[in-house]
Amino acid sequence: MRKKIVAGNWKMHKNATQTAELLNELKTQVSTENNAQVIVAPTFVNLALATSLLESSAIKVSAQNMHQAESGAYTGEISADMLKSVGVDTVILGHSERRAIFHETDALIASKVDTALQHDMAVIFCFGEELKDRQSKNHFNIVENQLKDGLFHIEAKDWEKIVLAYEPVWAIGTGETASPEQAQDMHEFIRETVRKAFGSDIAEDVSILYGGSVKPDNAKEIFSKPDVDGGLIGGAALNTKDFLAIVNAI
Ligand code: G3H
Repeated sequence: MRKKIVAGNWKMHKNATQTAELLNELKTQVSTENNAQVIVAPTFVNLALATSLLESSAIKVSAQNMHQAESGAYTGEISADMLKSVGVDTVILGHSERRAIFHETDALIASKVDTALQHDMAVIFCFGEELKDRQSKNHFNIVENQLKDGLFHIEAKDWEKIVLAYEPVWAIGTGETASPEQAQDMHEFIRETVRKAFGSDIAEDVSILYGGSVKPDNAKEIFSKPDVDGGLIGGAALNTKDFLAIVNAI
């Protein structure tokens, strides 16, 4: 049975004090009894603090990005080994903000995926179409190409380390969410695309998260769809009440 997951991507929010506050609140209310695996992704500088605060909790910690090289003259960058050295073994790759603002290409994301897998890290692989793609009815093609170009070079054995996160760019931080039916249609298509390339076992086992303006009042309906296995949450992951309401909507 595939895992239900709710992951909070904190983006560039929360200093160290605020990180500790939110995590101390969350950890008292999240346990292995929850239906979903809960993951939080604070900023790089607060990852060591997060893994230390959450050491004996049910909450996992993810990075929001990493560099593809092992080490070297890459000013300002963070390697897989550095993440693992502070207890982080999950990384979000391919987020639309990395693609759009930092010009990350499918090829670059593919090489980051390789590095993460070589370090035995789990990858939350993000992808999704822009508004113009949906308006021109090209959204299925775009999503298929992002998957194929960024991820489908991996081996079958690597899929146990992969979580997919479908995030339509037009729904991120806009308050406009995909309807539960739009999410289900795309998630079903994604699972079918994985099935065609890697077979039914892998397609059935991979968790596919939805991201894009998930809030306490729409989470339950989105999560009720059969191919939606949870969410990647931005804005609503920044306060305890909303995030826990979303976690408990699974
Ligand atoms: O990584 C999270 C997504 O970008 C969703 O962000 O929930 O603020 O729309 P949002």
